[in-house]
Amino acid sequence: MAQNSRELASLFQGFSKLNLSERLARLQNLGLLNSEDLDFLKKGGMRDFSLGEKFIENVIGYFQMPMGIATNFRIDGRDYVIPMAVEETSIVAAASKTAKWIREKGEIQTELVGHEIIGQIQCAKVKNFAQFQTQLMAQKTYLIDLANREVAFGLVKRGGGVTQLEVREIDRGDGSSMAVVHIMMNPCDAMGANIINQVCEFLKEPIEQLTGEKVTMCILSNLVDTRITKARVILSDIPADLGMKIAEASLFAQRDPYRAATNNKGVLNGIDPILIATGNDWRAVEAGIHAFACRDGAYRSITKWEWTGKQLIGEFAAPLIVGIVGGVTTLHPTAKLAMKLLGATSAEELSRVAAAVGLVQNLGALRALTTEGIIEGHMKLHIKNLTLGAGAHEKEIPLLIKKLEEILALRKRISLSNAVDALKELRSSNSPP
Ligand code: HMG
Repeated sequence: MAQNSRELASLFQGFSKLNLSERLARLQNLGLLNSEDLDFLKKGGMRDFSLGEKFIENVIGYFQMPMGIATNFRIDGRDYVIPMAVEETSIVAAASKTAKWIREKGEIQTELVGHEIIGQIQCAKVKNFAQFQTQLMAQKTYLIDLANREVAFGLVKRGGGVTQLEVREIDRGDGSSMAVVHIMMNPCDAMGANIINQVCEFLKEPIEQLTGEKVTMCILSNLVDTRITKARVILSDIPADLGMKIAEASLFAQRDPYRAATNNKGVLNGIDPILIATGNDWRAVEAGIHAFACRDGAYRSITKWEWTGKQLIGEFAAPLIVGIVGGVTTLHPTAKLAMKLLGATSAEELSRVAAAVGLVQNLGALRALTTEGIIEGHMKLHIKNLTLGAGAHEKEIPLLIKKLEEILALRKRISLSNAVDALKELRSSNSPP
């Protein structure tokens, strides 16, 4: 398979200029998809209601989202095809364009720091926190072994399982203490939500028996600061003024929460579409990333770009918890197909790739924002949506696109009302006198 050769340059070459059938044919020729995959995609993807009925409740249909692939990504020296399911114009194009720039001028490195996810067991009001902590710490190994033996044995076989137990004291604000037990667990290739929740609920009874305190609730935490995915982009030989402007834009996002929110949305433009395409829980990742972004009390950018005088160096660091087994990742046929295209073989690899794409997406937006502005490129691609919004028929679309491109080039902005007016004009000039 082409991906094994770590060389997808021929796939990427001119990919953006192909039509849909040519894109699919190229993926097939390279052995990334087979004829069944193509059939599945051409027929509109998942249609089998019985699957949807198993995934959620009160099903009435499917919500179809376009899935594209971002090209040109070389991460840690390996070429990747990045599947992205997203509704917003210009995200896939910007990711591909920026990855191409990095391919020519630099590199992308990633790493995972820590492996454990966190489960929380709350005792809302403990009589004596110090005693509670001492009792649990004395039985820590017993509780960890018990959870591994009775609940997480499958993970233990695969090299994971519960590894640590900690007790935290939280001030209730009324002069008394809340105790929170943190259970750390390596979920291997699963996202781990179900299994960590099961472990915590299982430990409820032994903890109550050992301490005489009452457990109030058990649930995982999405603020997983014990498993951090990092990505780093290094660009050399780029114009110094551009490097400096991107660093200035980054400082803006580090210092101002209003800008940080938008910056981080731009990072998530790269991450969420991969999570959706691969059937992962993007709400959990979003919650974790935003919580991590304000870990020191102020909401900040989760990326940072610095100009060293010679190189532009960008960094992303945040919890990005995903799975390649469990949930719908291996049940949803489109998610399976997306995983096949991506070729990631572990949760860690998927997480590292998503982090890299998030950082690259951020760079693409910052580059546009500090040069031509966001409108031009975004609207150039958004024009097709405007033609649909204006109610143009298939045959009218090419002419209307041309007209709108002229308006955009002239006025540097464009709106739906421009599209509606231009369509009226087009129709009246085409109607018989
Ligand atoms: P361009 O230079 O006009 O594009 O950029 P181009 O036609 O010269 O093509 C350059 C490359 O872009 C192509 O290379 C493709 O890789 C890609 P090639 O294949 O030709 O060798 N590309 C495309 N790929 C697929 N289909 C296409 C296509 N067009 C280009 N149709 C572009 C145009 C939009 C890429 C550029 O202006 C850009 O990167 N803009 C930024 C857009 C962006 O960030 N969008 C995200 C949504 S805005 C937002 O929500 C986030 C934000 O608020 C975050 C923040 O504030 O930080 C901005």
